[in-house]
Amino acid sequence: MNSAWSWYIILGTVASLAACFWLVAWANRQRASEAEIKESEAHVWDEDVRERNNPLPMWWLWLFIGTIVWSLGYLVYYPGMGSYQGLGTWSQEEQYDAEVQAAEAKYGAIFAAYGQTEVEELVKDPAALAIGASLYQNYCSQCHGSAARGARGFPNLTDDAWQYGGGPAQIEHSILHGRNGIMPPLGAVIGSDVAVDNLVDFVLAMPDGIDTGLPGYADYMKHCVACHGPAGDGLQVIGAPRLNDDVWLYGSSPQEIRKTIVQGRQGYMPANRDLIGPDRARILAAYVYSLSR
Ligand code: HEC
Ligand code: HEC
Repeated sequence: MNSAWSWYIILGTVASLAACFWLVAWANRQRASEAEIKESEAHVWDEDVRERNNPLPMWWLWLFIGTIVWSLGYLVYYPGMGSYQGLGTWSQEEQYDAEVQAAEAKYGAIFAAYGQTEVEELVKDPAALAIGASLYQNYCSQCHGSAARGARGFPNLTDDAWQYGGGPAQIEHSILHGRNGIMPPLGAVIGSDVAVDNLVDFVLAMPDGIDTGLPGYADYMKHCVACHGPAGDGLQVIGAPRLNDDVWLYGSSPQEIRKTIVQGRQGYMPANRDLIGPDRARILAAYVYSLSR
């Protein structure tokens, strides 16, 4: 925060506190004249509700003054005045760090032990899987869904269709380092709309086997085969999905497939290494591995 903003906040805070105090003092000193009291008592609602002009009760005034005094003390102790640190030198970063350290002290050893265990062993340990499930809800569910079934553009982790591979090592790699599948935009390369439509038809027919008689076949062998393979089995090292099954990351409608071919796709999963560390990644890998089994 630069010093202009800091002063802006300090002045605003002090001015509104002073205004509150002045309002209380001023209201307390007001005494209505006889004539004003008569005049206000003439206002009657609902037959017998009459307006009176009494001063504020003292207990209420003291409560008000008390909150002002309390807020002054608060602002001296805690950092509330611009960049002033406060006498207590409390900061949210330090409190957060302290909580993280306390959690590390409590769970660090458990996580470290799991981190040394192979995924195939961890999947047999219900306690490890329970921790994995709650880590999953914290770090993964916002994208892959709370039941891990994914959504459009976010893979389902419970089936056995894997873009990058469903073995322990590949899953752990996906979690630690993230993934970024690049399907290049090929509209310009393929050229005509008719050729693209033929490719869409060809892709839609792939689950029934490779039909070399379809007009899209030649273009598939020319532009797609390097990544998706001659039988449409995909290529896990680059995350090219299998096209000869009924699992679709971006949907099975001709429009979506056309869009994928013409504009390309770039699915992006962020790396988690710095956020969760290798031990928790191992536990998560075991949990994800267990989902499809
Ligand atoms: C350079 C490699 C590469 C080439 C060439 C390529 N693709 Fe892809 N394709 C990918 C990757 C990687 C993805 C996954 C993109 C992602 O993760 O967002 C993908 C995704 C797709 C999808 C989406 C699948 C789904 O489950 O929703 C379709 C359909 C597709 N490609 C068809 C084609 C067709 C047809 C061609 C040829 C015209 C082609 N691709 C050429 C790499 C490639
Ligand atoms: C910001 C959204 C996001 C978050 C958070 C996220 N993922 Fe992903 N994840 C994706 C996307 C998108 C892909 C597909 C990447 C691609 O298309 O190349 C993916 C791919 C994967 C894959 C590979 C799937 C396959 O078929 O090979 C695994 C495994 C995975 N995520 C697990 C996790 C786990 C475990 C977490 C929690 C630590 C997590 N993801 C958090 C978006 C996310």
